[in-house]
Amino acid sequence: MSVGLVPTMGALHDGHRALLRAARGESDRVVMSLFVNPTQFGPGEDFAAYPRDAAADRAIAAAEGVDEVYAPNVHDMYPDGFATSVHVGRLGEVFEGIQRPGHFAGVATVVLKLFQRVRPDRAYFGRKDAQQLAVIRRMVADLDVPVEIRAVETVREPDGLALSSRNLYLSPGERTRAASLHRALLARDPALVEGEVDYLAVVDPDTFEPADPRPGMLVVGAARFGSTRLIDNVVVEAP
Ligand code: PAJ
Repeated sequence: MSVGLVPTMGALHDGHRALLRAARGESDRVVMSLFVNPTQFGPGEDFAAYPRDAAADRAIAAAEGVDEVYAPNVHDMYPDGFATSVHVGRLGEVFEGIQRPGHFAGVATVVLKLFQRVRPDRAYFGRKDAQQLAVIRRMVADLDVPVEIRAVETVREPDGLALSSRNLYLSPGERTRAASLHRALLARDPALVEGEVDYLAVVDPDTFEPADPRPGMLVVGAARFGSTRLIDNVVVEAP
């Protein structure tokens, strides 16, 4: 019996649903984890304010045919004395890692713990968080973790904005301007962002080292709309 794991922090939207459907399509048993992981949030970030609605999340999981929602609490995941973590290397120190020191170590550590607890055959991650996907793939290869990593396409609103739990923070005006990030990525032009650009660059999807814009490379971007920081990426297509 094959097991598919979809790790989430809840506040589920259609992007998460796409992951659940991919898992449902190829695994006998689908487990969705629901855990807002404190170790991947920096001191000034939104851990306390992160949207939480476990009842709504469980209803969505049930509607998508999830067999088990695994929702540990913080103390269970990180009991007193917890001290060990995954060191991510350079991939964790560029782009998102610059703005969010320690973020990817927190992600890698909790994902490895979830893998150990759930023992999935496959685990599903969204391409929207491309650097996170690269970090997980690197970890699984480097530490001989016997889990197949599956990537799922980014789900977008009709105007191009990538679905994100953090879109809930946007005011109506910010919400409209936020769609400019996707347009700017497609045009590879940071000047098109109707907000404060953090970075816009072409990178190799495995290493996140800067690359020439050839097919298969990623255009990654991060920008702030009001106080909300959003990330997105698109693949460079053949001309
Ligand atoms: P979270 O932000 O809840 O995202 C859970 C998964 O949904 C991630 O793999 C993310 O890439 C994917 N996802 C989010 N928005 C998406 C979209 N618009 N289209 C497709 N997939 C999308 O990412 C995390 O949680 C955490 O870091 C986690 C991996 C659970 C570790 O704590």
